[in-house]
Amino acid sequence: MLIGITTETKAYEKRVAVTPDVTAQLVKAGFDVCIQSGAGMNSYFSDDSYINAGGKLEADANKIYQTADVILKVNAPTDAEIAQMKKGAVLISFMWAGTNPALVESCVKQGITAFSVDAIPRISRAQKMDALSSQANLAGYKSVILAANTLGKIFPLLMTAAGTIKPSKVVIFGAGVAGLQAIATAKRLGAIVEVTDIRPETKEQVESLGGKFIQVKGDDSIKIEGGYVKGVSDEFLKNQQELVAKHVSEADIVITTALIPGRKAPVLVTEDMVKSMRLGSVIVDMAVEQGGNCAISEVNATVVKHGVTIIGESNIPSLLPFNASDLYAKNIQTFLLHLASKDGFKWEMEEEITKGSLIVHEGKKMIA
Ligand code: NAI
Repeated sequence: MLIGITTETKAYEKRVAVTPDVTAQLVKAGFDVCIQSGAGMNSYFSDDSYINAGGKLEADANKIYQTADVILKVNAPTDAEIAQMKKGAVLISFMWAGTNPALVESCVKQGITAFSVDAIPRISRAQKMDALSSQANLAGYKSVILAANTLGKIFPLLMTAAGTIKPSKVVIFGAGVAGLQAIATAKRLGAIVEVTDIRPETKEQVESLGGKFIQVKGDDSIKIEGGYVKGVSDEFLKNQQELVAKHVSEADIVITTALIPGRKAPVLVTEDMVKSMRLGSVIVDMAVEQGGNCAISEVNATVVKHGVTIIGESNIPSLLPFNASDLYAKNIQTFLLHLASKDGFKWEMEEEITKGSLIVHEGKKMIA
């Protein structure tokens, strides 16, 4: 089986799906691996390192799309790229199929098979394949570094002969994978960290990292399914806003990570709340691409509004391309070796990981 890896063409993307280390592992497992020349350069992996790992180089992306049995990518290919793929070839990448019907249709039209890494069930035996977590973890770390670098203050308490500097206060919305890493990072830098989430079980996790949990009284409207928030009432969001507004007005940094899968992100920081913040404060809106948790953040822009700097990076993992590609490549290696061997795919259609992540099978749509 020939595995093809092409350069990521999406704007702001520096990652690559497969690293030299993972190339070596796939070659060892009996696959042929072909990488587009330069595909690893933005993640600091040279062409030579892929050749040394047993891969082959190809300058023309189209040739890779036309010949590969399996295409491994971070972001889904464009329609034009999919149109080059062989009938029956297999694509593995992030797809966000639920909110991307046109992409699913392109795969159907081309008669290919597509697995979406964001749809891999979050069960314990799939943890090594969980690209959502590996990337969110890094993004949570980097969000704090971005904010720290923008804030005109230090994080820790500092007692000096010239006087005492009070520690900075960081308020974090959402204690999922990204939020928990943001808490740990901000604590390590010496900040006071306050956190709000609507899943009650996060209180203990937040506290175990040294964060202070802002408790909002829950109501029956919060629907949790498989660990995810599936829906929350406007009334709950109003109560939450009132309670956290005070914490936000006293914060130096606000980091928002709150997502609801398949839906627009909830607005949790209103323009009035931004106005209430001190001059020079910083907001990092990690949900900016899903509509934003801050009402006035802008996608892929850092803006200053009401004296507050609002960072709207849509692709924070890509700001750590070396680590993000390294972990993603390991996720995808484990996933591929779960689904296939050098002799072909197993097609265990009732197996939970296969079933959850298979979006299109030989041109047939597998999702509702
Ligand atoms: P996410 O990226 O979908 O959401 C981030 C956080 O925002 C979540 O904690 C969510 O509760 C919170 N949130 C949503 N609406 C909010 C609101 N209005 N106010 C405040 N917070 C709000 O979450 P992520 O990081 O992808 O994790 C989702 C779930 O998956 C969690 O239950 C996590 O424990 C679970 N998980 C399970 C894994 C496994 O078993 N293999 C691996 C990783 C995560």
